[in-house]
Amino acid sequence: MSAPVLVTGATGRLGQLIVARLVSKNQHVRVLTRRPGHARALFGTSVEVAAGDFADPVSVRAAVRGVGRLLLLSPLSGTLSIDQIGVAEAATAAGATRIVKISGSDWTIDPPGLSISGDAHAAVEWRLRGLPIEHVSLRPNAWMQVSLPNLIRQAEAGQMLSAGYCGAGIAFIDERDIADVAVHQLLARDIVSKPAILTGPAIVDLRAIAGILARLLHRPVAVADAAVPAIIATDASFEHRAVAQFKGLIAAGRAAYSTEAVSSILGRAPRSVEQFLTEHLTAACFAEPRTGARN
Ligand SMILES: NC(=O)c1ccc[n+]([C@@H]2O[C@H](COP(=O)([O-])OP(=O)(O)OC[C@H]3O[C@@H](n4cnc5c(N)ncnc54)[C@H](OP(=O)(O)O)[C@@H]3O)[C@@H](O)[C@H]2O)c1
Repeated sequence: MSAPVLVTGATGRLGQLIVARLVSKNQHVRVLTRRPGHARALFGTSVEVAAGDFADPVSVRAAVRGVGRLLLLSPLSGTLSIDQIGVAEAATAAGATRIVKISGSDWTIDPPGLSISGDAHAAVEWRLRGLPIEHVSLRPNAWMQVSLPNLIRQAEAGQMLSAGYCGAGIAFIDERDIADVAVHQLLARDIVSKPAILTGPAIVDLRAIAGILARLLHRPVAVADAAVPAIIATDASFEHRAVAQFKGLIAAGRAAYSTEAVSSILGRAPRSVEQFLTEHLTAACFAEPRTGARN
C-alpha cells in the first residue's frame, strides 16, 4: 500500500472537498481530527482516522508517522502559525516527501503587516522554506462559497446588496477549484515551489454581482451606496479582527487582481461567479454535496 496522504482540517469546508477528491482517485488518505466519530460519519471507512489535536504534539507525531504527502490546512485562529509549523516540522522529521499548504490570500500576505491572518500564514511559509522538504503554498483569493451566499440571500429577500467592500472588485475563486489544484499539487510528479496565487477568472464588483442576480431572478437587484464599515471591538477575537482587516483591504481594491495559475495548473479555466450563481439559483450548486451537515 502506498504511503498515506495526511490531510489536516479534513472535516472543515475545504478539507472535505480535498478528501473526497483524493478518495475518488484511490489514494490512501489519513485525516487528523479531534472528532474521530465525526470523521467516520463523513468519510466512512474510505480514510484512516488519526485522532489528535494540533495542540497535542504526541498525537501529531502519531498522525504523521509513515505519511508521504501532507495537505496542511487549519482554521483562521491565533494559533494558526504554531499549529501549522508543528505539523510541518513533525511530518518532515517523519520522512514525508511533500507539503501542500493552503495559505492566506496573496493580498493579506504581501505586503506584510496589514493582516494578522496574512502574517500568520507568512510565518508558516517562511518556516516551510527552511525545512528540507518539497513544498508549495497555495494562496487562494476570497472563496465564492464563503462570500456569495449572503448576497444571494439578500437578493432573494428583495433587499439591496450590501457588503463591506461596496465598489471594489474581487477575483473570487470557487473552493472546488482550490480543492482541484490542491489535489493536483499533492499528486503531481513535479511541482514548482513558489507560492501559487489562485483566483477566479475575472474581477467582479457588487454591481456586476447584482446584474447577474437580477438576470437570474428576473427582477431588479439594487446595491447599497455605502460600504458597511467594519467595526472592531477592542476585545474582538483573532478571527473577527482578521475578517475586519480583510474587508478593509478588499475595500481598498487589494483583492482586485486575477492570475492564470488555476488554468496553467489544471489546463482549464477556473469556475466563474456567474457559473456559481447560476448553479446556486438553479439548485444544482450543491451538485457536489458535502458529506457533512455544513455547506
Ligand atoms: N474563506 C476564504 O475566503 C479564505 C481565503 C484564503 C485562505 N483561507 C484559509 O483557509 C483556511 C480555512 O479553511 P476552511 O474554512 O476549510 O477551514 P475550517 O472549515 O474552519 O476548518 C476547520 C478544520 O480544522 C480542524 N481543526 C480545528 N482546530 C483543530 C485542532 N486544534 N487540531 C486539529 N484539527 C483542528 C477541524 O477538525 P476537527 O474539528 O474535526 O478536529 C476542521 O477539520 C484558513 O487557514 C484561511 O486562512 C480562507
